[in-house]
Amino acid sequence: MRRRVIAGNWKMYKTLTDTRAFFSSFLPLVAGAKPCDMVVAPPFTAISTAVEAVKGSSIAIAGQNVSWSQEGAFTGEVSAPMLAEAGCRYVIIGHSERRQLFRETDDNVAKKTLMALASGLTPIVCLGETQEDRDAGLTEEVLSRQFSGGPCALTPEEFSRILMAYEPVWAIGTGRTATPEIAAAAHRFLRRCAGEKFSIRHASALRILYGGSVKPDNIRGLMAQEELDGALVGGASLDPESFAALVNFA
Ligand code: PGA
Repeated sequence: MRRRVIAGNWKMYKTLTDTRAFFSSFLPLVAGAKPCDMVVAPPFTAISTAVEAVKGSSIAIAGQNVSWSQEGAFTGEVSAPMLAEAGCRYVIIGHSERRQLFRETDDNVAKKTLMALASGLTPIVCLGETQEDRDAGLTEEVLSRQFSGGPCALTPEEFSRILMAYEPVWAIGTGRTATPEIAAAAHRFLRRCAGEKFSIRHASALRILYGGSVKPDNIRGLMAQEELDGALVGGASLDPESFAALVNFA
């Protein structure tokens, strides 16, 4: 049985004051939550405040991005050891906004994943096709390319320490969720890639989150698919009540 993960990606939202206010409302709402892994990825500036706010709870804090280098003259970058020292346990890698707006490549994703693992962080590696890819019937080809260019570079032991997130680009921030069946088909495909590259055991232990307009009113249908091991949530993770509703459902 794979343990569910509900992860919130705050993107470039929330100041330190907002972060404190979020957790003071959110913590009591999830105090009785059934066991699932809860993760919140605030902006870099709010990581320490978030780590402080969740002390004593089972909520883990994540970075939204990480450098592929350990240190150096890389203006604007933050390294994996820095995230780990700040108290992060996870890091999101290869989010479609990074890929599309900041030209992140599969090769970057592979390097960042290795760096995160070397610092003891759990990478959440994102993959997903655009609307154009889907319309052209290229979904599996794109997922397979992203899988080969990214997670394939890992050893089996390293692979067993990552999470993956299937995030169809057309569903992110658009209010257009993938149907549970579409999401499950993509997850099955990714699990097949994992089985072929690593082993059936690795594939069946791999946790794959779904991301793209997950909301309290559609989580039930999505989580009814046993292929889906949780959710990576953007918009609905900003509000303590809606994020708590997702966690409490999972
Ligand atoms: P969304 O974002 O839930 O706002 O669609 C998901 C994501 O970007 O991970």
